[in-house]
Amino acid sequence: MVSVLATALSLAGWVSHVAAHAELSGVSTSSLRGQATVVDAPSAPVFLDSAIFERLEHFKDVGVPATLQDQIGRATIADGTCRSVVSPGSGPFPLDGYAFWHHNPERVDVVLKALVQLPSTSQPSKFVIAAKKQLPSACFYGNQTNKLDLYQPEDLAKALYNWHRAICDLDWEDPAEQPQQQALTTGFICMASCDTAKMELPAAAVDAFSASMAAAQAVTKSMCAAMPWTSKGPVTPLDGLKSYEEIAKATEPWRQ
Ligand SMILES: *[C@@H]1O[C@H](CO)[C@@H](O)[C@H](O)[C@H]1NC(C)=O
Repeated sequence: MVSVLATALSLAGWVSHVAAHAELSGVSTSSLRGQATVVDAPSAPVFLDSAIFERLEHFKDVGVPATLQDQIGRATIADGTCRSVVSPGSGPFPLDGYAFWHHNPERVDVVLKALVQLPSTSQPSKFVIAAKKQLPSACFYGNQTNKLDLYQPEDLAKALYNWHRAICDLDWEDPAEQPQQQALTTGFICMASCDTAKMELPAAAVDAFSASMAAAQAVTKSMCAAMPWTSKGPVTPLDGLKSYEEIAKATEPWRQ
């Protein structure tokens, strides 16, 4: 994980440098914002409104109904929902890698409830405006924690296999190839991989994944290089592992 995180963090640093430079040269924020997506796409932040809509529409309309009994699914939907709409540093406390994973069901339930209560996705702008206004307070709710053992090792192994395939299998029919999908999926992988190895996952590390389009892509690239998925499948298949220890051992390349 260190090299994966180092890549993201250095790219995130590069992005703030670019932004600072633009300000010094007198470029107004509004023109910078407009140009950032067109002229300088790699440095654009991942969670533009279009990306927020893409993730939250899917979570609200498909994800929540499909994962009513699935603790891993619910935790990751809450995590992805909040990281889409809460800018790093804007809340009462930093959202570290376990801010939802270890606050399930208390905080997770409140986030999913707020997500379900948003207006219909049939009016995209109205939906995104409401999401940015109504969701953030839910993301900081509560103080009850849970341990890794809320999640069955077999289910965790299966989820890791699916996330690994989504970001690394070039032939997969529904890949996580959009930057916001990459940023969130790589975060989920870090969560599960670091938690089974009893490691911390600071907010700065997770925030770095979505700091820019380039960071999301670079992290994905490093992860797929560390644990390749070939035309014959994953070099190290994670599905079928039966204990947290086995998962920690198998995912070690992602933490180096
Ligand atoms: C725990 O969280 C709940 C809900 O946000 C809040 O009402 C309560 O005061 C908190 N308790 C402590 C001890 O912080």
